[in-house]
Amino acid sequence: MFLNQNKIDKNYKKGVVWGQDKPNKYVIKLASLLNKGSKILDLGCGEGRNTIFLAQEGFDLTAIDISKVAVDQMNHKLKQLGFNVEGSVCSIQDYDFNSKYDAIISTTVIHLLSKEDQIKCIENMQINTKHNGFNLITVFTKKDHGFLEYPELSFLNLDEFVPFYCNGNWTILINEEYIKHETHGVPHDHNIAIILAQKNN
Ligand SMILES: C[S@@+](CC[C@H](N)C(=O)[O-])C[C@H]1O[C@@H](n2cnc3c(N)ncnc32)[C@H](O)[C@@H]1O
Repeated sequence: MFLNQNKIDKNYKKGVVWGQDKPNKYVIKLASLLNKGSKILDLGCGEGRNTIFLAQEGFDLTAIDISKVAVDQMNHKLKQLGFNVEGSVCSIQDYDFNSKYDAIISTTVIHLLSKEDQIKCIENMQINTKHNGFNLITVFTKKDHGFLEYPELSFLNLDEFVPFYCNGNWTILINEEYIKHETHGVPHDHNIAIILAQKNN
């Protein structure tokens, strides 16, 4: 397994929550573009801050993550909130895309894949999105402090990321870099690139 999954699981066991339990701000934007009931896939959902928000907004969620610790925590919260939705423990590499989605999201996950798997993941996201549907991806850039610490990971700068969505099949709605402040452990910042794109008709 690539990096650091032990470290991620250890953090989840300590009760650390990515984004302090608030949904990603671009996920909130995405929700405003979708009709209620839209089918959304969350790849690498973690403890479900985005999945839970989107379920609460009335969308039909499928969520996977490689961490059983994280998925169990998310499923517990979903059950407490009365949702009839369960995330599954599965890696992005092994996920069997057997349906088309109105939106597929993956927030701060794909830098954890090998370069080959990262490209495959983006291709699968694109193929399995309905026409007029959306992809939302955020990824750590090479400006992130982790780039030097974990050279085996697949950090992606915005100018390397954008071309995936410039093949004529997509309209890019947002592409930018931002800094995210995290408070778990020693407070630190992450440099992140985001693309929100809509599949052309
Ligand atoms: C930084 S967390 C982000 C979690 C969530 N997307 C969010 O924004 O709150 C990265 C997540 O990716 C998951 N992950 C790492 N490699 C994965 C893989 N190959 N397949 C599925 N999930 C993976 C980790 O278990 C972790 O939950």
